Parts: sequence; C-alpha cells; structure tokens
Amino acid sequence: MNYPDYRPRRMRRTENLRRMIRETRLAPEDFIYPLFVVPGSGVAKPIGSLPGQFNYSVDKAVDAAAAAADLGIPAVILFGIPERKDAVGSEAWKDAGVVQKAIRAIKKARPELVVMADACFCEYTDHGHCGVMHDGELDNDASLENLARTVVSYANAGVDVVAPSGMLDGFVTACRESLDEDGHEQVAILAYSAKYASAYYGPFREAVESAPQSGDRRGHQMDYSNVAEAIREVSMDVAEGADIVMVKPALAYLDVIRAVSDEVNMPVCAYNVSGEYAMIEAAAEKGWIDRDRIILETLTGIRRAGADMIISYHAPYACKLLQKQR
Ligand code: PBG
Ligand code: ZN
Repeated sequence: MNYPDYRPRRMRRTENLRRMIRETRLAPEDFIYPLFVVPGSGVAKPIGSLPGQFNYSVDKAVDAAAAAADLGIPAVILFGIPERKDAVGSEAWKDAGVVQKAIRAIKKARPELVVMADACFCEYTDHGHCGVMHDGELDNDASLENLARTVVSYANAGVDVVAPSGMLDGFVTACRESLDEDGHEQVAILAYSAKYASAYYGPFREAVESAPQSGDRRGHQMDYSNVAEAIREVSMDVAEGADIVMVKPALAYLDVIRAVSDEVNMPVCAYNVSGEYAMIEAAAEKGWIDRDRIILETLTGIRRAGADMIISYHAPYACKLLQKQR
C-alpha cells in the first residue's frame, strides 16, 4: 500500500465512489427524540436555551411525537415538569402525572412508536437534587424505593423503556426487580450508566428548572477525568439487567463511547446533550458555522465512535437533512 501504486484519492473522486466506501451511515432509526412535557393543554412554549425545542403539554407532545415518527424516528424519550415540586418529588410516581399521561396518549396515537421515559427526581424536587435528601446528602437507598415506584407507574401507563438517569448505586436492580414483581418483565431498561457531572447540561436544567438549589451532582455523577470507572459502571449495569447502556454527554466523551462499545456486547446509546445542541445552534445563528453540515458531521462522529443509537434534539432536523441527500 504505497504511493504511487496506491492512490487513496482515486476512491474519493466522485460522490458515488465516496458513498461506496463510506464506513458509517446515519439513518432515522439511529435516533431517539427527547420531549419535555408540562401540565396544561395547547402549550408549546419555546425553550430559550434550546432554540427550536419546546415545553409541550400532553396534546402537543403527541403531535411532536407523531411528527418524529413520520420522519422514521423509532423512539421518543419523555421528561416531565410537574405541577408542583416537593421534598421527595412525589409527583414522579403519580398515576396522573404529566409523563404518565403523555405515555398513554402517545401510545394510543402511535402504538408502534417506542416510548421511553426518563426516571429521576431532580425535575420533581423543590431542592433540585436527584432523590431524597438526608442531612444535606442524597440518600441512595431511600431514593431507590421512589425510583422503583416511578418506573412501575410508567410501566402501568404503557411505557416501552424506562431510563433511570440518577446514577444511583443499584438503580438498575431496583428497576428490574420492581418491574418484574409487578408483571412488567417486557419493559426494557435504558441505563444512564456512564453519566458525567457535566456543564453541558446547562440548557436542559433551564428547560426543566432542575438546577440544584445548592451544591452540585458530583457526589453521584462521574468525574469527567475517568474512563476505567465508566467501564466499571457499565459492567455493573449490564450485570444488573440493563438492556441498553448509555454514555452521556457525547462529544467530549467519544473515547468513552468507543471504550464502552469495545467492552460490552450490549447496545450502546450516546446522549448528544443540551449544551452540545445549544453550541451548534448559537454558532449557526451567528453565521459562524454551517449548521446543516455540522449537524451531520457531529452525529456521524458519535456513531463512528461506537454508539448504536443517539438521543438528540437535532433528530427530526437531521432526518430532514438525510431525506434531502437522497
Ligand atoms: C436528569 C437528566 C439530566 C439530563 C437528562 N436527564 C440533567 C442532569 O443530570 O442534571 C441532561 C440532558 C441534557 O443536557 O440534554 N433527569
Ligand atoms: Zn436527576
């Protein structure tokens, strides 16, 4: 393989030659689209820090989910912003909670669409932490009991996949056991296995008003300096029964995605988080970058790193770009 016998440029000469040797492809089925559900009806309130994304009431969330499905996207993941927040986040497991209502409505309108629901308490607690607090500390095992209640209530509403996002120790076991005890052995678990304490979640916290009132999440989310620890976390979640493991965020963690996908024989999801979306939108707005090209390059990079699926706010837009390419 030496010049001049081998000339790599020969196979880059035309678009069709390039298409033939393309190693990574993007398709609508690679995506999961996040939706933020709020109380009320007829609500589609723009999220300032996530231009193009909205807080939707259940009826409008159904429309957004249907539009995603029409683009070929197989799944949505729901986040809820409750009517009222309290110390333990009890609205999270209410049968008439926003997420439970949205699950029912979306499954009714689009039975084939995979409905996932994020399960954590930071959106539901008045202090903004991811569970029950005791003496200023997150009480892991007390929070697990509430997590178990929450995922069972999602399952009763008809969810296909629960996505515990709190990085609590034992959270997959807690979900699996409670789901199975309640007869929901077909409900899958997408585990936020390697979730880093990240500044890239800033716009999301504005969208769901979940910034901690004091302190931060470094006591349970991972230190961004570590990758071996990510493998330990992922291995535990697989042993506990996770059906899909996740690395989050994506872009500053492409090496982690690669390490995880090399290590485990399980589907790997990457979360292309709010700050990653916001940076592209802000720079595109200023005319500093080419939005369409950057979006496809970014998403392809995440797939190339080893992600089997990507949660992305850009999902519907990316599908439209892919359609245009045909
Ligand atoms: C917690 C949760 C967060 C995100 C998804 N689930 C925020 C956090 O841990 O503070 C972040 C998603 C994003 O930034 O796009 N329920
Ligand atoms: Zn949380």
